[in-house]
Amino acid sequence: MAAARENYFTEWRSYQRQYRELLLAKAETEAEVKSARGFGIEIRQIVVSDLGAVDRCVTCHLGLDDPRMTDAPQPFRTHSGPALAHHEMERFGCTGCHLGQGRATSAREAHGWDAEAFWEHSVLPDPFHQASCGVCHDPEAIGSRGAPVLAEGFGLFRTEGCLGCHKLGGRGGPLGPALDEIGDRGRHSYSFAHIEGDKQVWSWHVEHLVSPETVIPGSKMPEVGLDESGVHGLVTYLLSLRSSNLTERMTPRDRYEQRYQVWHTRPLSGEELYRQFCFACHEEGTETVLHDTLGTIPSVRNHDLLAVVSREFLVESIHDGRPTTFMPAWASAAGGLEDGEIGRIADYLLESRREIRELEFVMSAAPDVANGERIFNAECTDCHALTRDGVEAPWLGDPGFQATYSDALIGHTIQYGREDTLMIPYGVGYDGDLTDAEVSDLVAFIRTMR
Ligand code: HEC
Ligand code: HEC
Ligand code: HEC
Ligand code: HEC
Ligand code: HEC
Ligand code: HEC
Repeated sequence: MAAARENYFTEWRSYQRQYRELLLAKAETEAEVKSARGFGIEIRQIVVSDLGAVDRCVTCHLGLDDPRMTDAPQPFRTHSGPALAHHEMERFGCTGCHLGQGRATSAREAHGWDAEAFWEHSVLPDPFHQASCGVCHDPEAIGSRGAPVLAEGFGLFRTEGCLGCHKLGGRGGPLGPALDEIGDRGRHSYSFAHIEGDKQVWSWHVEHLVSPETVIPGSKMPEVGLDESGVHGLVTYLLSLRSSNLTERMTPRDRYEQRYQVWHTRPLSGEELYRQFCFACHEEGTETVLHDTLGTIPSVRNHDLLAVVSREFLVESIHDGRPTTFMPAWASAAGGLEDGEIGRIADYLLESRREIRELEFVMSAAPDVANGERIFNAECTDCHALTRDGVEAPWLGDPGFQATYSDALIGHTIQYGREDTLMIPYGVGYDGDLTDAEVSDLVAFIRTMR
């Protein structure tokens, strides 16, 4: 008796009885009345073999394709937007776009919005609905056809320089974790200890982007300085980074075109590459960057640098990076950039060169290392550390620095300094008081730091 009672009052049955009443109230013709009377109280489901899904959402969401239900209360309302016009319910089901637990027949279990819910992937709320569009469609191409939030996030991910520290498809910097398939991670693999909003994956990402340090104490990730809609776009894009093994029937045309383009990529310009891979650290100016989390980063646009370095110097610096510092190596085996791309970045930087200067500095025949060390300790260690832990100025013992800087380039930099930076000129005749011989001693000492 108890079991039957429980059954009669099950949540979904009660929704279906309410829906039958609604159908009767809305019925205008004899046929509609008949169909309303014939509405059976039963579990309804869509089996989507292409996605391996069994979605019982339609057990409660009963009016999705009924145009009379636009003003009905949930869960009976007509589906809004054009999504179902392009994707027949019977073929696509619900969880392919919404996530959630398709087989569940209670709202709590199906939606997973309850913090205590066991399920990994809760139904995505507004404004993150468009995350799934990017699982099947090309996120860039689908922007103008129903997924503007996703497209905005896709664009920001590139222009905000996220790839300077994160890899995607094997390209990007090594400082943060690779983000391929981050959207697959369920909520049980996140720590919500420092999350103020819902204990949900999307709230974690929103709060992490706004203040990484709050969510992960000690994080080296800088805060993104975007408004709410930009942050929502980025999170939508991050949640769209899911593994997908789409059957042919589930693969839309733009995805085929995108796959084709991977092999026939439109070459990115030097400027686009710089924005994607370098901007987050080096920014745009000619001054040293005082980075929020990484400390001092030299400007790669500084006029006194560009005046004396060659294209080869830039290519080599970018290719191999500076292994003991935050400067990553960008060669294909490391950061994933092709040689041609590295060349285009170098050309792009050289476009802002104001003048070309000959490197005239010549080392003295027998430099005095001990004297160099004495001067270095007196003049340079306020900024340049003797170990790699200094953050006020580049670390001169780095093997990448040592390999790319000739003696003449080090000597010139000490003599001449760098306009707009804390690296002032030290040479006699350039506003400083170190003689050529003393600068030679310094260079000889710097060589012992490697
Ligand atoms: C047991 C009945 C039931 C089932 C099963 C169910 N839902 Fe719901 N759903 C509701 C109810 C009731 C509401 C409105 C109240 C609320 O927000 O909880 C709702 C609300 C929603 C909303 C938000 C609507 C809005 O206006 O913001 C979405 C999206 C949604 N459901 C999707 C799904 C998906 C996807 C499934 C299947 C995985 C599903 N639901 C399964 C009953 C159900
Ligand atoms: C192709 C993707 C797609 C499919 C398939 C899909 N939806 Fe939606 N659904 C959306 C989007 C996008 C929105 C947000 C609508 C908007 O903002 O225009 C939405 C909104 C909703 C809402 C919130 C109320 C509303 O209409 O705004 C509910 C409830 C819902 N869908 C339920 C379902 C159920 C149940 C199914 C399965 C039969 C389903 N949807 C299938 C994409 C989809
Ligand atoms: C499970 C994969 C899948 C998901 C998720 C999905 N689509 Fe689609 N979509 C398709 C397929 C496949 C087609 C091709 C239609 C067909 O074969 O009937 C399509 C067709 C379309 C079309 C019409 C054809 C075109 O390219 O203009 C639009 C628009 C569209 N989808 C937008 C969206 C939007 C917006 C979302 C997210 C709310 C979305 N889709 C989510 C697979 C998907
Ligand atoms: C200067 C380097 C740097 C930049 C630039 C950067 N990140 Fe991060 N990111 C990190 C580091 C380090 C971590 C690991 C520590 C943490 O989670 O905060 C991280 C973690 C993350 C995580 C969590 C990954 C996981 O598996 O837990 C996401 C998501 C993320 N970043 C997204 C972004 C996005 C989106 C951007 C661009 C707006 C961005 N990051 C820019 C360094 C960076
Ligand atoms: C007040 C701080 C400060 C002092 C003191 C200082 N430097 Fe620098 N140095 C910097 C900064 C900052 C840069 C990076 C400038 C830029 O943005 O290009 C730099 C750059 C350099 C470079 C080029 C390294 C590179 O990777 O760009 C060399 C070589 C160098 N300094 C040597 C010296 C020597 C030798 C002394 C002592 C005679 C010295 N510096 C004193 C701040 C300082
Ligand atoms: C995660 C931060 C980060 C990213 C991303 C990054 N760099 Fe750097 N870069 C640095 C740091 C830090 C240094 C200085 C290292 C040191 O202490 O010697 C540096 C040094 C350099 C130098 C040498 C400058 C000099 O004064 O000698 C060049 C050239 C350079 N980077 C180019 C690039 C290019 C081009 C990109 C993009 C493909 C890039 N970097 C991406 C952090 C970064």
